[in-house]
Amino acid sequence: MSDSQVETLSKQFKYFSEKVYPGSSPLYQGLSARIAEDPEILSLASESRKGEIVPNLFFATVHFLLLQGTEHPLSAFFPSLCSSSGGGGDPYPYFRSFCLENKNRIRCLASSKRVQTNEVQRCACLLPAFELVARESRGGPLSLVDIGASAGLNLLWDRYGYDYGTGRKYGNVNSPVQISCTVRGDPKPPIPEIFPSVESRLGIDLNPIEVRDTEEMLWLKSLVWPEHTKRAELLQRAIELARRDPPRVISGDVVDVLPGVLSELPRHSTLCVFHSHTVYQFPQELRDRLLSQITELSRKRDLFEVSFEWWRGKDQPSLELSRVRDGKRREELLAYCSPHGEWLQWVQRT
Ligand SMILES: C[S@@+](CC[C@H](N)C(=O)[O-])C[C@H]1O[C@@H](n2cnc3c(N)ncnc32)[C@H](O)[C@@H]1O
Repeated sequence: MSDSQVETLSKQFKYFSEKVYPGSSPLYQGLSARIAEDPEILSLASESRKGEIVPNLFFATVHFLLLQGTEHPLSAFFPSLCSSSGGGGDPYPYFRSFCLENKNRIRCLASSKRVQTNEVQRCACLLPAFELVARESRGGPLSLVDIGASAGLNLLWDRYGYDYGTGRKYGNVNSPVQISCTVRGDPKPPIPEIFPSVESRLGIDLNPIEVRDTEEMLWLKSLVWPEHTKRAELLQRAIELARRDPPRVISGDVVDVLPGVLSELPRHSTLCVFHSHTVYQFPQELRDRLLSQITELSRKRDLFEVSFEWWRGKDQPSLELSRVRDGKRREELLAYCSPHGEWLQWVQRT
């Protein structure tokens, strides 16, 4: 690895320790600050798959090996593995020795896996957007396409229960997956008492994650930062639910497969493509291609696009709805949301 590559990666770990992990993962915050100063570990991290967010991917590989049962004193510092963790001592020497002892396994995982966190909590933000789509299509059934679906868990949003702190529950109150989300301020989002009906649901992903594959599920769990034990529990419950009747996620680059997928969806249904925490990571050229492809496809059939993305340069993720018809799109900002969907601030006025 060249000096300039080491320097770039060091800056990335430093950035994550100062801007991304604080307030969310004290463990990764401390470790990434130290990695930024450690050429040997930086060199190992540099072998991560190109195009991925290296700190998140690198930590996930270590987390994966620990969750898989690799015995090491480092596990004592991971709240996901040890409930009494975080008590004391400096984890870095243990982290360093773990990385060096497991170099080959880390290399192999980091160069082949992707950051594909599937966050079901985000369904709490998507739900009012789906409700708006259903209202505008006069209650017709929805045909949903999730771009960058990962394991497809967000396609199953209507099998979950929701609590927005309004004193009542929504959706399936008996579901093992119960999602809480705080609504900030006014106006209030349109949360439906009766959920929109879904005619078909399909995910597209470069690398679909199979919910019945134990190792792939372990990888999904490794992507959850170690302090986020409630998120990990919710994920586990969503996985168990999805395993009974898994969502269909097809493999491919969205711009290659979307036209074929859309042409096969039931004619009488309302077409709604959605994406969360996916498109903002696309290179600009791919993002532009997707945008013009969707706009072009609307010449054949009207469609809605729901976007929950954290656009570059913005302080927080936003939820947007585009009505795309006859080659024209009308975009509307609906809400600001936390990255994982723990809160939602509705801004659209009906
Ligand atoms: C961070 S995950 C988000 C998963 C899910 N949307 C969620 O919010 O929980 C992004 C997903 O997009 C997929 N992806 C990235 N580029 C893609 C592309 N060009 N076509 C299809 N999927 C893509 C990745 O494989 C990954 O599974």
